[in-house]
Amino acid sequence: MPSLAENEVENKFLDTFKILLAPLAGVSDMAFRVICQNLGADLTFVEMISAKALVMDSQKTLQMMERHPREDILGIQITGDGPEIIGKATQLLNKHNFDHLDLNMGCPVKKVVKTGCGSALIRDPDLVYKVTKAAVDESKVPVSVKIRLGWDENSKNFLEVGDAVEKAGAVWLTVHGRTRSARYDVPVDLGAFDKLKKTLSIPVIGNGNIFNKSDLDLMIDRSNVDGAMVSRGALGNPWIFTSLKNTQFKLDIETWFSVVEEHLQLQKDVYKSESAGVICFRKHLLWYLKGWSQTRQTKERLIQITKYDELLDLIKNFVDFQISQPSSRAFRSIKENIESSRNFI
Ligand SMILES: Cc1cc2nc3c(=O)[nH]c(=O)nc-3n(C[C@H](O)[C@H](O)[C@H](O)COP(=O)(O)O)c2cc1C
Repeated sequence: MPSLAENEVENKFLDTFKILLAPLAGVSDMAFRVICQNLGADLTFVEMISAKALVMDSQKTLQMMERHPREDILGIQITGDGPEIIGKATQLLNKHNFDHLDLNMGCPVKKVVKTGCGSALIRDPDLVYKVTKAAVDESKVPVSVKIRLGWDENSKNFLEVGDAVEKAGAVWLTVHGRTRSARYDVPVDLGAFDKLKKTLSIPVIGNGNIFNKSDLDLMIDRSNVDGAMVSRGALGNPWIFTSLKNTQFKLDIETWFSVVEEHLQLQKDVYKSESAGVICFRKHLLWYLKGWSQTRQTKERLIQITKYDELLDLIKNFVDFQISQPSSRAFRSIKENIESSRNFI
């Protein structure tokens, strides 16, 4: 696959509709990204990194930035409270192997916002312009920005923010269609995507509530976005990328097992420590189990396991049980899976 930078020279990456895996804190590590890319994600990102931590040479941050040889294409997302720190962090990123840089201006987490990062930035479109410009000026790879619709219902300034992002030279804008103060039960405002599409020249990527092909079709129909970013819909369901592209796809237990086993193996390799890899994988397995029948016993046992072989045995036993259930036909109920994912957080 050609790198994004090569593509961007001719500005082709979003010439065809693309489906991206969102940067997901605590989730989109190397192992999960490899799995999602293998199943059809067109672009994946390292989870949000603090520009300050990068400049301070934090070892943990550097570890998070490692790239797997199987990652054909990879983006990274950073956040910072102003142009200076973003400029410095971007210079450092130029020494690493990334194809794309995204700036987080949507994170609602208090501890992030308190420091002037994440969604705090969209309160000031002029600052949005300066921060974006600093990254664009320094970056050797294309820069995009991910925003929310505004701080709260009374300050939806996404058109102004989008305009600042475009004027500063970003190659696309990703929009999570909720405000900073909105919880996940607030519907995604697809009309806002449409307004942005009609106002901006740069491509717009829609984000929020994509759990299946109907969700994606509705978003495209209502807003004509140039691409979509999947977030919670990929948790325990990396096959979402396959099913968004191929409606005939049906997940059987054998396919489920081969991917879960590969993910576990990758996780172990990434963490370089058996127990750390296994412990990190347990949350993924809890998500993977959603939608299958009679998972209670497996869930209860898995939270005590720290050894790779034990966890693999547990998974194999679970698979044997599913196969032995004639009524389940060993297919995951996609409907149940969707419903349970929607309720996440
Ligand atoms: C566990 C988790 C971690 C997240 N981490 C990030 C992150 O690092 N950067 C980011 O831009 N958004 C992050 N988000 C927000 C999502 O990318 C997305 O904007 C939001 O969940 C809405 O999309 P959805 O309705 O499809 O989940 C995170 C969301 C979740 C659930």
